[in-house]
Amino acid sequence: MDKIILITTPLYYVNADPHIGHAYTQVAADTLARYHRLKGRKVHLLTGTDEHGQKISRAASEKKVSPEDFVEAGAEKFKALWKKLNVKYDRFIRTTEPIHVKTVKRVLSDLYQKKFIYKGRYSGKYCVPCESFCSPDQEKKGVCPDCGRKLEEISQESYFFKLSLFRDSILNHIDKNPDFIMPRSRKNEIKGFLAGELRDLSISRLDVDWGIKLPFDPGHTAYVWVDALLNYISALGYLEDWEYFQTLWPPDIQFIGKDILKFHAVIWPAMLMALGINQPKTVFAHGWWTAGGEKMSKSLGNVVVPDEVVDRWGVDAFRYYLLRQVTFGQDGNFSEDGFKERYESELANELGNLLSRVVAMIKKYKVQFSSSSSGGFKKKTLNIVSGLDDLYMKAEFSRVLDGIWELIRGANVYIEESKPWVLAKSDEGKLQEVLSELFCLLQAVAGLIYPFMPRASKKMFESLGVEPSSPESVEWERGQDFKKIEKGEALFPKK
Ligand code: MSP
Repeated sequence: MDKIILITTPLYYVNADPHIGHAYTQVAADTLARYHRLKGRKVHLLTGTDEHGQKISRAASEKKVSPEDFVEAGAEKFKALWKKLNVKYDRFIRTTEPIHVKTVKRVLSDLYQKKFIYKGRYSGKYCVPCESFCSPDQEKKGVCPDCGRKLEEISQESYFFKLSLFRDSILNHIDKNPDFIMPRSRKNEIKGFLAGELRDLSISRLDVDWGIKLPFDPGHTAYVWVDALLNYISALGYLEDWEYFQTLWPPDIQFIGKDILKFHAVIWPAMLMALGINQPKTVFAHGWWTAGGEKMSKSLGNVVVPDEVVDRWGVDAFRYYLLRQVTFGQDGNFSEDGFKERYESELANELGNLLSRVVAMIKKYKVQFSSSSSGGFKKKTLNIVSGLDDLYMKAEFSRVLDGIWELIRGANVYIEESKPWVLAKSDEGKLQEVLSELFCLLQAVAGLIYPFMPRASKKMFESLGVEPSSPESVEWERGQDFKKIEKGEALFPKK
């Protein structure tokens, strides 16, 4: 069987309501998956929820519900949002699923038998919101360097994973595989971290009950990050269907946010090395969203709630904004004004008006198809198409959109310059050529925007009265049928 393209997202903690940061990773992963599917490639998109650990059990007890009920409701919230955002995944794994629990136990007992795990004592600081250990040199006066919240003291017996053993191999892997950590600018951060001492990792807790018990010492609960990272193999048949697992593994791209890069570019590779499993081809760390220029937080009341943005602006506009506003990999800021501006100028005016003008003119002037290339749009489209694989592989979503918008803007200029309303009185042949070429271009654009805005793409094809097709298969020269062309409702209505 051919290798299936494997795309993964992080597993989201179910204690918080989904926000723009979660939606961001998910929309990026879905857009990439849709692109590959459109190309006829087999894709598997893996996502899910992180449901164990101290943070979750505390949140459940604050709400006075059992952790089981709490995580059930939490997972449903994420699933509902993915549906609303039109995100199609192939597997939604929950870390409370029996197959996941079984896999984690098996892996931990294998690592224990191979002597990668030993018993010791952990004394140090821990950040519950980040679920991460904090070394004395990282801590800032008892506060977590990442989230700024108060650290807690832990001193207890614990099992350790021999992370230190893998330091050189990880560095070597990073150097030999320039695409392993993307964007490349993030690589130095990890290399810098690895340049210092890499300590063994405490992987069990005696005082946390909500989680997976160590098979070789059930008084201990597995560290939630070790539990969660193993989802990437437990969800894919690692334990029960090795053959299937091999059609998927390794991941082509693992999308994460920059805050969890260390877990994915240090701990995760070391675990895979210990298990003798291949490394993912790419771990891509995207940037961080702020709102109104500030870090989002409940207390500031500036958390961007995807549900609300979608209800106001529509799902496609939200998907578009996320991937258009920021170069993937860099930080970005959400603002209602910025959103409105992009919506009005790029979606409603440049794209929406282009479609409605062309459709209206074809109907009004009763145009017959006539092939022409005076606008040069076939060449321009094929040029963009030929660069897409490379851009998508590097997750350069905003550059893909740049290319598409160059075509759209070019088409608007072409209309202004060729003045079909004048040609209607003077040169019917030329009028047919101009509008036919624009009709073909709109089909290409509908195909090009599909991964980002699947609904708008469908609406465009419906309005043009043609079956959905990929941008490279538009029939620029062959006769097109204008009979089914339909002036539907506005693609992006004015708000
Ligand atoms: N449960 C862990 C991941 C385990 S993966 C084996 C976790 N969960 S999380 O819910 O806190 O975060 C999930 C993802 O959302 C992370 O990739 C994180 O970077 C991303 N974001 C959370 N807030 C964000 C922003 N404000 N902006 C962009 N992404 C952010 O970490």
